[in-house]
Amino acid sequence: MKDDILKSIRGYLEMEKESGVSEYLFSSKPKDIRLNLVKNEVSGCQKCPLGKMRTKSVFGSGSINAKLMFVGEAPGHEEDVHGIPFVGEAGMLLTKIIEAMGIKREDVYICNILKCRPPHNRNPLPDEISACMDYLYNQIEMIRPRVICGLGKFASQTLLNIEIPISKLRGSWHEYRGIKFMPTYHPAYLLRNPADKKLVWKDMKKIMEALNG
Ligand code: URA
Repeated sequence: MKDDILKSIRGYLEMEKESGVSEYLFSSKPKDIRLNLVKNEVSGCQKCPLGKMRTKSVFGSGSINAKLMFVGEAPGHEEDVHGIPFVGEAGMLLTKIIEAMGIKREDVYICNILKCRPPHNRNPLPDEISACMDYLYNQIEMIRPRVICGLGKFASQTLLNIEIPISKLRGSWHEYRGIKFMPTYHPAYLLRNPADKKLVWKDMKKIMEALNG
């Protein structure tokens, strides 16, 4: 009986590990310490060539107890300089959106699929995404927000493992590892297409309802 239970726990842990959840999750250390250990690992990461090109890695910012997590694509120039996600022009717009939702930026958690800036802000490559994904899995599993908002095509398609265009994905609920997932347009897209801000606001209203309901 005991052996069976141990066997099924071991099987579960193996399954979690294979899907990218590392030993940090199963340590008995407090959540903030475990998250910091992952952050330290990221700051020395050389798992892909972007590690050699970065000024600073960009792990994530915000509350470890966040109910809402935003996941973007990859750091840009400003983020690479400061080591903080979404601090450039798109970041200022994201901050405005969060505040319009009646939430303080420091009460949500913000991170990206990639933790290092791709040269000239080019799109993330599949190898870079797979090298980096464990870090994000750890962040999501440690924070376990009530809602994840995928900012743009890369974050949404990667986490949902789906190739549907963001224009079709956005605005409806999906699920990521048991967490409600709302894809929406990336704030950098909104800077180029301000008319679509109203669609993002619709998506944010759905998120607010889910958080308050
Ligand atoms: N765009 C992103 O996707 N992430 C950032 O951190 C900044 C801009």
